[in-house]
Amino acid sequence: MTNLINDRLIRALLRQPVDCTPVWLMRQAGRYLPEYRATRAKAGDFMTLCKTPELACEVTMQPLARYDLDAAILFSDILTIPDAMGLGLHFTQGEGPAFQRPIRSAADVRQLNIPDPESELNYVISAVRTIKQALQNKIPLIGFAGSPWTLATYMVEGGSSKQFSIIKAMLYNQPQTLHLLLSKLATAVTAYLNAQIAAGANAVMLFDTWGGVLTTEAYQAFSLNYMQQIMAGLTRQVNGQTIPIILFTKGGQQWLEITAASGCDAIGVDWTIDISQAKQRVGNKVALQGNMDPAILHASPEYIRQEVKSILAGYGHNPGHVFNLGHGITPDIPPEHVKVLVDAVHEFSQLTP
Ligand code: CP3
Repeated sequence: MTNLINDRLIRALLRQPVDCTPVWLMRQAGRYLPEYRATRAKAGDFMTLCKTPELACEVTMQPLARYDLDAAILFSDILTIPDAMGLGLHFTQGEGPAFQRPIRSAADVRQLNIPDPESELNYVISAVRTIKQALQNKIPLIGFAGSPWTLATYMVEGGSSKQFSIIKAMLYNQPQTLHLLLSKLATAVTAYLNAQIAAGANAVMLFDTWGGVLTTEAYQAFSLNYMQQIMAGLTRQVNGQTIPIILFTKGGQQWLEITAASGCDAIGVDWTIDISQAKQRVGNKVALQGNMDPAILHASPEYIRQEVKSILAGYGHNPGHVFNLGHGITPDIPPEHVKVLVDAVHEFSQLTP
């Protein structure tokens, strides 16, 4: 039992029965919505938007006014932690994030402080509190953080990357330096997520966006290992309610069995695996979240509806499915198509006995 009016998301993440399949979408608040672009213009830039709790709350609520979503996700970014560690984050139009002071040596890593969520990251925790008030317990709020490995890719490369050559050179030449960085990040992420939980987040998600670029051995040692440390340190019960953990390794379908045994409640899956196969492989160990290709939102409403039907059928009549995309909504998606998707998930999952 939760005190939420609609607790389908929490129930599905904990593999309990639901009246219909819950749905939310990664990047549901974002540039594809004209009202988001207006609020961002009012803020001036993306980081100011993240750092102003009232505006972060405003954009979190925007997709909920349009669609019958079963969860809200905190509007923020995974790069708030490296920003609070003093790396000098800025976003340049069209080029994504960049750090003024990337991490390249053991000395750089040793200098890093672990941010206190209630001071350096207070704007995020304050946004969680503001959003919780606005939601009035109607639907759950998902808190999130980047995985240590994914955060480290941005911190070491200095921004987005295609080849990951600098961090992979560090991984193979100076593994101890990278391990020290990842262990500091694991400590920082644990404190950050626990502060989000204390402020009212009902579930948390770890975004391991770049775990999939690693070898199996490196994934276990440099990514999953640190996510396991985080999960072991999270507050799992608040007022008798379980706080479920979703782990999303993009491109991680080859490791479903090991991620299912890592201590998470649910695994986010991208569209490169058939959901029926993913379900077969994890059995009843964890719930699954996914996995429509976000590009299908470009297709016709009829096509979108068929695809929703097929993913729901692929998962089957079992508890433990949260419908989502396999990655975030892109800025060029027509907002009306998102409504088609959300309504189709509820319609088709209710009809099937
Ligand atoms: O899902 C949501 O609605 C919550 C908000 C959210 C954002 N970023 C907002 C955002 C979440 C959960 C994130 C996580 C995030 N941020 C990830 C992991 C998830 C993923 O996409 O795999 C990563 C890798 C980042 C880092 C990041 N932030 C990048 C690479 C970019 C630029 C990409 C781009 O599209 O230009 C951002 C910026 C960002 N984060 C935007 C939003 C809405 C766009 C900013 C803008 O221009 O308004």
